[in-house]
Amino acid sequence: MRIFKLEQWLVGLAFALLATVAAAQAAKPTVVVLATGGTIAGAGASALNSATYAAAKVPVDKLLVGLPELANVATVKGEQVFQIASESFTNEQLLTLARRVSALVKQADVDGIVVTHGTDTLEETAYFLNLVIRTSKPIVVVGSMRPGTALSADGALNLYDAVVVAASKDAAGKGVLVTMNDEIQSGRDVSKNVNIKTDSFKSQWGPLGMVVEGKNYWFRAPVKRHTAGSEFNIDDITTLAPVEVVYSYGNVPRTAFDAVGKSGIKALVHGGPGNGSVADRIVPVLQELRSQGVHIIRSSRVPDGFVLRNAEQPDDKYDWVAAHDLRPQKARILAAVALTKTSDTKELQRIFWEY
Ligand code: DGL
Repeated sequence: MRIFKLEQWLVGLAFALLATVAAAQAAKPTVVVLATGGTIAGAGASALNSATYAAAKVPVDKLLVGLPELANVATVKGEQVFQIASESFTNEQLLTLARRVSALVKQADVDGIVVTHGTDTLEETAYFLNLVIRTSKPIVVVGSMRPGTALSADGALNLYDAVVVAASKDAAGKGVLVTMNDEIQSGRDVSKNVNIKTDSFKSQWGPLGMVVEGKNYWFRAPVKRHTAGSEFNIDDITTLAPVEVVYSYGNVPRTAFDAVGKSGIKALVHGGPGNGSVADRIVPVLQELRSQGVHIIRSSRVPDGFVLRNAEQPDDKYDWVAAHDLRPQKARILAAVALTKTSDTKELQRIFWEY
């Protein structure tokens, strides 16, 4: 009789334990990690190779297996969307990635998204998602400056931080975020500022917060339109208009502007010195392009500050658009997205002020 009682007790205990685990699992948020490649998936020949290595080698499952600590944060699922070095991203790949993010955030059983990405164009992808994904759920783009095989690699902690933020209710509604080097940056504002330091990603307006030992500390929130508050939606975008960037410098010839102008572009981002200055010999070239229906977006190659409309150039008179504080590579993203909705200059300028 006693054995029967003991068995009954053990079965009861087993069920109780299973119920506890199930409840704990159910209580944990679900985060989907979409892997695209980059250094965070890179591998070098030795631990001393922090800058010489092959990007886009390690599959997402291996990245996640290497971080058992994630089990305490969320139920994490991985998908390998691409396995590329991010300098090779194309508009088509941006659209594919955004469509997958859009589908996942619509699922009730998905609480947040992490995108692992090469750092070279991470800022462009983060801004693109910020513009076209209609959700308030956290979306965090993350990379690393050193491969996981290197001494003092930064990828594991960056990825852990990204999952923490993506699993956090307090990260909702803040737009697309980037977690690098303990900081939580706005996907709109952040850029890669140093090509070989882990402290590389900066915004001239500062980070939104920090994530330390699995906890978020917020200090500000974005004021520009994004995600759920955006007028753009990836579900309505089939293709992105060709928009190219041409940098300007002393002695710049018209060659590049002529060549790019003949390639069927809808807008040209002029990456000028200073406050978006345009050399006097280039002004008529841009005016000619404008007369052919190509929009001119006046940006600056200077990292910080912002381009003032009608300061260096009479934008009203020339019917040009000022890129505000967006660096040329981000101005290209916004122009391509804006042109899916309008080709009116005043509307384009409104969009550059608001996003
Ligand atoms: N090839 C670069 C990229 O994929 C490596 C840089 C990195 O990911 O940190 O963006």
